[in-house]
Amino acid sequence: MKTTILFAGKYGSTEYIAKMIKSKLGEDAVVINLRDNKKPDISSADCVVIGSGVYMGRARREVRNFCKNRVNELRSKKVALYLCCMENKEEEVEKYFQKTFPEAVLSSAFAHRRFPGALVRSEKEGAMVRSMFEQMTKTNADRKEPVEQWVTAFVDAIKR
Ligand SMILES: Cc1cc2nc3c(=O)[nH]c(=O)nc-3n(C[C@H](O)[C@H](O)[C@H](O)COP(=O)(O)O)c2cc1C
Repeated sequence: MKTTILFAGKYGSTEYIAKMIKSKLGEDAVVINLRDNKKPDISSADCVVIGSGVYMGRARREVRNFCKNRVNELRSKKVALYLCCMENKEEEVEKYFQKTFPEAVLSSAFAHRRFPGALVRSEKEGAMVRSMFEQMTKTNADRKEPVEQWVTAFVDAIKR
């Protein structure tokens, strides 16, 4: 099954997850950064995975626009969605999904899940973001979230 993994992020975590998904899927998967290519050709993909980081309660514009503009095309695919964010309360994360993805895309996705934010650190961080991430990273470390295990389960659902 051919899988296209589309993502948009800023500080690296969304990309990190996209690449981990790809590494577990192997050669039949490609990763495309929607910030570099806003109109990717997904015609040959059986499955499309779409991921974004969350900033001030919103996913990246490239992801929101892509989904809005390509609803009909996405209807014909197997779709899985993810968000990288700090929030981990299920009902709050669910609101992020609802704000990001059109109802038609979200309701027909066979999987949607959160992965933690601030998984990787970046030179793009300014002082404010760095101190915010330091707090977040501590919290993530305290939570000991089994990210790789979650990615494996997500990928297993894609392969099914
Ligand atoms: C300016 C800023 C605002 C953020 N706002 C939120 C937020 O509203 N909710 C949340 O759960 N996480 C928030 N985060 C955490 C990010 O979602 C998290 O760091 C994620 O990994 C970002 O993805 P990226 O690393 O691919 O850019 C914020 C991070 C930054 C830098």
